[in-house]
This record gives sequence, C-alpha cells and structure tokens, in this order.
Amino acid sequence: MIKPTTRIPISSIILDEDIYPRNGIDLRRVGIFAENIRDGFKFEPIELEPDPDKPGRYRLLDGAHRWSAYKSNGVAEAEAVIKNLDGTNPLLYAAKKAIGPRQLTEDEARDTARRAYNKNPALTSSAIGKAIGRARQTVDSYIADLRAATQMGLDIKIFRMNRLGIPQDRIAKRLGVDQKTIHNHLGKMPVLANFLNTDLSRGFTVAQVAEKHGWTEPMVWSLALEAKEDLERFKELGWGLRTWDLWEWNDCDRRFGDDWPGRIPAQLIAHILYYFSKQTDLILDPMAGGGVTPDTCLALNRRCWAFDMTDRPETRPEIEPCTWTLPDSPDKPDWPITSKGKPDLIIFDPPYFDKKAADYAEKSISDLSKKEYLEFLEAFFALLKRNAKKTTRLAFINADWRDFQNKPAAEESGKGSILIDDYLRILSRTGWQHTHIIQAPMSAQRFSSVVVSAMQKKRILGVTSRYVIILRRTKK
Ligand SMILES: C[S@@+](CC[C@H](N)C(=O)[O-])C[C@H]1O[C@@H](n2cnc3c(N)ncnc32)[C@H](O)[C@@H]1O
Repeated sequence: MIKPTTRIPISSIILDEDIYPRNGIDLRRVGIFAENIRDGFKFEPIELEPDPDKPGRYRLLDGAHRWSAYKSNGVAEAEAVIKNLDGTNPLLYAAKKAIGPRQLTEDEARDTARRAYNKNPALTSSAIGKAIGRARQTVDSYIADLRAATQMGLDIKIFRMNRLGIPQDRIAKRLGVDQKTIHNHLGKMPVLANFLNTDLSRGFTVAQVAEKHGWTEPMVWSLALEAKEDLERFKELGWGLRTWDLWEWNDCDRRFGDDWPGRIPAQLIAHILYYFSKQTDLILDPMAGGGVTPDTCLALNRRCWAFDMTDRPETRPEIEPCTWTLPDSPDKPDWPITSKGKPDLIIFDPPYFDKKAADYAEKSISDLSKKEYLEFLEAFFALLKRNAKKTTRLAFINADWRDFQNKPAAEESGKGSILIDDYLRILSRTGWQHTHIIQAPMSAQRFSSVVVSAMQKKRILGVTSRYVIILRRTKK
C-alpha cells in the first residue's frame, strides 16, 4: 500500500532525544547520504509524528540520518509520512524502525528498554524485545532492578489502600491487577512491616525510616503509632489539642498531604477526627485534593475513602477519581461506588465560592455562578444524606464570601455574598441539623503589609473567617 506523504519544512522537524533509540547520529552515514542526495538519489520518505508539546512541530520517528543529510545539503523540505501512533510507545516504534538497517548496540538496546519500561511499567519484556531486536530473557536482565522497584511500589500502594479500608475489589480495579495479586501482596505485609518496625525500635525517626524504605511518612506513622490511643498519637505527632471551639493554625503540617491549592492543615482534620469519630471508623472525603484527610486518617487509625476529580494514580492511588455532577433528577443518585459500607463521618472541604477557580481543573465547582454553586451544594448535601447512616456526622468546611476587595466595609451591600446562614439554610432543607460551628480562620499572613495598610486606609474589612460546621442527620 502506498503511504500518503506530504512535504514538511526541514526547520519544523526536530530530533527528540526522548524517543530516539540511538546514542547519537553516525556522521559517516550522514556523509554518505548527503553525497547520494547531491547525485540525485531519491530516499524513502522519513516518518514523523506531531510533537505533543510543540504545536506546529514534528518529531522524527524514522530517518534521523536522512534528515541530517537534507539539513547539511540545505534542502528546504522533506517528503514525510505523518504517523498517528494511537498509544503505541513512540520510542519503541522508533527503535523498531531503527533496527531495520542496523541493529542497536548493546548500550542502546539496554538504554531503550529501560527508558520504555520506566515510561510504562505495564510493557512486557517480549513486547520491548520485539521492538529492540533482543530476546525476552535479555530484556528481563536489562530491567530486573526497575521491575523490582515497581513491585515494591505496588506493595506500598496496596498496603496504603488496605490500611485505609478500601475493599480489595476496588484496590484491584484501581491498580489494574487481579484480586489474587492483591491477596498475595497483602500476605507479605507483616514481613515488610517488620523491617520498618525494627528500624523504628533502633531509634531511627519516622522521616528517616520513610526515606530509607521509600514509604510515605503518614504510612510509617500508622505503623509507629499502632495500638496507641488518640491522645498519645496527638502528643507524638506534636499537635497540641485545642479544647475550645476556636481552631487556628498559621501553617499546614507539611508531613501530611501534598502542596495543593486550598490545602487545609492536617491539624484541623485531626481535630475533626478526634472529636467526632473514633479509631477504625470509616471517613469519607468526596473532594480530597492533596490528600490531607487520608494521610491524617493513617496517622489516627481511621479508615478513609477519598475521591477527587483530579486523578493521580501513581502518587495518590487511594484518592479514587470521581467528578461529582448534579444528578438529572433527585431520584438518580450519582454515587461512584457500589461497595457496601456507609461512612461514620464525612469531611467535605469543597473549593470555596469564587476562590482559586484558575487553580482547579475544568468542571471544578469553583467555576460556578453563585446560584449554581448553592444549587450544587444543595443537591450534594441531599446525595450525601441518601448515602449516610442514621448516625453519620457531616463536617462541612467553608468560608464566608464577601466582595470586600475594593470596597469600604460600610459600602458593601451584601448582595452577591455567601455567608454562613446561606449554608445553614440549605443544609437544613436537605435534612442536616448543625450541632457545632467551629471557627477555624484562614491565616492572614498571606496578605502583604502593603496590602494591609492600603485596606486599612480605605476601611476595607477583609475575610479570614472559615468554619467547620458539624451536622447530624435529621429524621425526615
Ligand atoms: C479545597 S480543595 C480540597 C483540599 C483538600 N482538603 C486538601 O487539604 O488538600 C477542593 C477539591 O475539590 C475538587 N473538586 C472541585 N470540583 C469537583 C467536582 N465537581 N468533583 C470532584 N472534585 C471536585 C478539586 O479538584 C479540589 O481538589
């Protein structure tokens, strides 16, 4: 079959080292090609794919030497086939093409196999071997250490998800392995945990043990604090317990959760857990973001099911992907899991109205208008109630929203603002009765002194108030 070709300017073609299987261009070969071009010899078209990072540019899949020869002869355009690889690994495709005229050297084959495996650990040795012209066993030997590290990674992911009480069928689905594999890995857990416990008992710190074994700190905490009461855990974690309903911290505890827009302090989550749940309870966080809730649950021995629209399977396998949308009808609950089990406590920390809209992914509720935002919350509270137990508590975290930026306080009309009573009204309409309103103000340190003094001059009254509203289900 004749492949459709097109003429592409040489200047818009690049040699992308990420998908080039050789150590470098063979200048002798380029010289021979350049001579052939001068003699009027016609070559096979080169193969390109659109560069995913540079619109309007193409990267070479086959023909690096011909392309170099065209360049050195001052040829303006080259005959090319534009490929759509449709998910095929471009490095392996390029390798398969490269070995047509000349095998890869030992170094090149090893390096290509390792790079391809690193990019996609699901690739089999025989698939890699076919592309680079080596036997499966040879590829096995090239990537043995990388495979061991990935296996370790899988152990850690399974352990973490299991510790958080995620059912095995969901762990299997999330990690793309069968349930038998999960079962086998879990069997190894006590031995793995032993290595860490031994290091802890020798006096290494949690951070040192985490680094040595490649675990996250919250997971090591979950081992280090095993069998301890909540209060002892607070003490060991260095969190002073607040006795009154004002919870204020200037900083997030960096050991828990990732750097994430709208991250809340782990101390705040820990206080919700301390007062409104007990060990091994099931906690649900439907918009878990940077993972502060699951991390804190590990440290305080709670189970946790977490969801978010942003999917990070490698680093946050325990946060299952889910974009909450408004159900078309209230009778059609839009619930992402079929597993039995209802939460004892729901921690719901949505994006606050109009805040950080640019930081979150498309379809984030931070993009909604005030009316839509409140409608979403109303439908969502109703959905939570339908999927809660009689005794389930809801901890709803939100902040007042006033358009204070450019207005003296006395000129604010209140129109367009969303305040705590707006939330309480829709919570009550959807069958949630509040039992506590805890003040957990956001830090004002994010405002520079210049901004503060400008605000003071103009009599602008800023907003730092944030609330944790604790609710229980009403009977209706
Ligand atoms: C305030 S952040 C949560 C921060 C989290 N508590 C932490 O400390 O890391 C709100 C999260 O809601 C998620 N989100 C927004 N709209 C969503 C939707 N429609 N479905 C699912 N997640 C959504 C965002 O991706 C974001 O991670």
